[in-house]
Amino acid sequence: MNPSRYSRITGTGSALPADCVSNAELVRRLAARGIETSDEWIVERTGIRQRYLADAGTTSSQLAAQAAREALAAAGIDATDIDLIIVATSTPDFVFPSTACLVQKALGAPGGAAFDVQAVCSGFVYALATADAMIRTGMASKALVIGAEVFSRILDWNDRGTCVLFGDGAGAVVLEASTTPGVLASRLHADGRHEEILRTPGNVCGGAVIGSPLLTMDGQAVFKLAVTVLDAVGREVVEAAGLQMHEVDWLIPHQANVRILQATGRRMGIDPSRVVVTVDRHANTSAASVPLALDCAVRDGRVRGGQHVLLEGVGGGFAWGAVLVKMSGDA
Ligand code: UT7
Repeated sequence: MNPSRYSRITGTGSALPADCVSNAELVRRLAARGIETSDEWIVERTGIRQRYLADAGTTSSQLAAQAAREALAAAGIDATDIDLIIVATSTPDFVFPSTACLVQKALGAPGGAAFDVQAVCSGFVYALATADAMIRTGMASKALVIGAEVFSRILDWNDRGTCVLFGDGAGAVVLEASTTPGVLASRLHADGRHEEILRTPGNVCGGAVIGSPLLTMDGQAVFKLAVTVLDAVGREVVEAAGLQMHEVDWLIPHQANVRILQATGRRMGIDPSRVVVTVDRHANTSAASVPLALDCAVRDGRVRGGQHVLLEGVGGGFAWGAVLVKMSGDA
């Protein structure tokens, strides 16, 4: 392995479906099904104010391709230069082929490697760490790393404890080989003993769906574990990069609940003003939440070249991870 070969983010992009559903509108839609909830409960318990929901014709690969085109434009490179596409998703268009292959086809960029990563809400950090490793070992030079979901498809709209929490969308980054370090350190973890607290336990067998194709969650168990592991893996990756916590300019954790974001920042000693929060606008978009939040903060001018950004994922599996990135000047 070439010790001076690194990867760095050179462009970001995102995509959201057209239907922006406020809490008030969701309350109305759920009331029509006999499900009672309120804007007050959703805001107080989660910080969510709205979410974007895909219509029946919109797929993860379409949102992923749209986000990818934005990221390619920001990086100033053509899709045909891309030799690796990784899509993190738990709501792929098909059982197979992979969503990444569909994105590659949509972008007109055949020939490179393309595959999906299934690590639920940790999917994007798993995909980014994987792409970084592949670039550093010389297996790829220009990668698209994408998180894309149509989570609304796997929600039980009769379960108010989960259906108000999620939204749809996609976020993407271009990751390019460089002699200048961009991804400084990555750490990934999982503990399958907790697989039952957040799951969609269905599968296709003999042409029929076996089990339940809808999401179930023990919210409090997920909450407690999430706060603990996000703190631990954040510290682990900052130490691995040889930095101190005060040198982290921005913390971008998985956007599940504003209370988890605040608690994570507090535990790590990171001021709330340095925690990027988009859960209020997007709700929980699973694998898309971290790249969506990163793209928002890049485009609104908060995240700038030369800054250290700590990206963290956590969710079903139970799986979690973190990637510490030094943003490049042109991202
Ligand atoms: O992306 C993967 C990571 N996911 C997460 O990180 C989610 C982590 N968990 C959470 O964010 C929180 O646990 C929730 C937001 C899911 C729930 O918040 P909570 O403070 O743990 O509430 P709870 O589940 O203990 O429910 C409290 C009450 C219950 O009523 P009772 O039993 O106290 O009478 C629920 O029935 O709130 C009720 N409730 C609702 N009320 C109005 C649950 N959902 C709703 C709702 N509207 N949508």
